[in-house]
Amino acid sequence: MGYRVVVAGATGNVGREMLNILAERQFPVDEIAALASRRSLGTEVSFGDKTLTTQDIDTFDFTGWDMALFAIGSDATKVYAPKAAEAGCVVIDNSSLYRYDPEIPLIVPECNPQAIHDYKNKNIIANPNCSTAQMVVALKPLHDRAKIKRVVVSTYQSVSGAGKDGMDELWDQTKAVYNPTTDVPPNKFQKQIAFNVIPQIDVFMEDGSTKEEWKMVVETKKIIDPSIKVTATCVRVPVFVGHSEAVNIEFEEFLDEDEARDILREAPGIMVIDKREPGGYVSPIECAGDFATFISRIRQDSTVENGINLWCVSDNLRKGAALNAVQIAELLGREVLKKG
Ligand SMILES: NC(=O)c1ccc[n+]([C@@H]2O[C@H](COP(=O)([O-])OP(=O)(O)OC[C@H]3O[C@@H](n4cnc5c(N)ncnc54)[C@H](OP(=O)(O)O)[C@@H]3O)[C@@H](O)[C@H]2O)c1
Repeated sequence: MGYRVVVAGATGNVGREMLNILAERQFPVDEIAALASRRSLGTEVSFGDKTLTTQDIDTFDFTGWDMALFAIGSDATKVYAPKAAEAGCVVIDNSSLYRYDPEIPLIVPECNPQAIHDYKNKNIIANPNCSTAQMVVALKPLHDRAKIKRVVVSTYQSVSGAGKDGMDELWDQTKAVYNPTTDVPPNKFQKQIAFNVIPQIDVFMEDGSTKEEWKMVVETKKIIDPSIKVTATCVRVPVFVGHSEAVNIEFEEFLDEDEARDILREAPGIMVIDKREPGGYVSPIECAGDFATFISRIRQDSTVENGINLWCVSDNLRKGAALNAVQIAELLGREVLKKG
């Protein structure tokens, strides 16, 4: 006996990856429903070698469904997640709506799987922001060994993090640069993204940081340890898929770069590719479509007492969203629902 699973946002970047990953990992599915807005009613989406027809979330009855993986943005989530949760269907949500609610667990299964049992507070589980998810997978095993005091991170985030409209904007603007008769003004992004980088993701906060930067601070504390200090600069770059991060970590205790490399080699969800030669590191184009978070450029930072620098790359639509949500679904199945 398997699960009755709903994927909400099945026509979007993350929803399509959720369907791919559920099929790839042979999640025990008895029945699956693909939902989106009324605009997409009848649109066909792939689930392994099957084709699903998208249904309208507004008229869907969640009663009798075990779990719903949501990737529909905060506004629509506010309307439909409580409906699903009240009908007894556990929601695993990708939006930021519930991440900071102390009663709702925010889970990266490699870091805080024990939080799964708090799902019953509201029948909702939150998935972190893409830039946080890949970073905490790398931080957690190092924190367990040498206790992290402070993290300084700069991100290089792909346009797929802004949904399918973000990908279209990069594609159309890139073509328009070679065809000066067409003009594609910024819409999803604040400035031209083709051949450019933009040091703003999400809205500005009162202190001058952006909401994306704030999310990395708050979510790292909730997932790993409230005592960890994080300062972030989040930058959008003209890459289609794959977020990169330059991470500087200061520890309570000394941690040698070779030991850090060994710890990360053994850590779940991580692949270390770290050769000190030209090209001996991972770039975003190589991580697209992969499950792992790739770590390269591990080296001592001798400007602080106990410092390590590293380079962290992952497919934002996978570990940053869909894969993590499916891993949460697997954890929920294994630890709580126990079917399949
Ligand atoms: N992309 C990432 O790296 C990433 C990472 C972490 C979290 N997330 C979060 O995941 C969610 C989806 O992101 P995405 O990148 O997949 O966006 P996307 O490509 O723009 O897709 C949005 C999806 O939501 C559906 N939707 C929009 N409004 C809806 C409504 N009122 N009712 C029902 N369905 C609605 C869309 O359906 P239609 O096709 O019918 O419009 C589409 O399936 C967002 O909350 C985002 O913040 C994304």
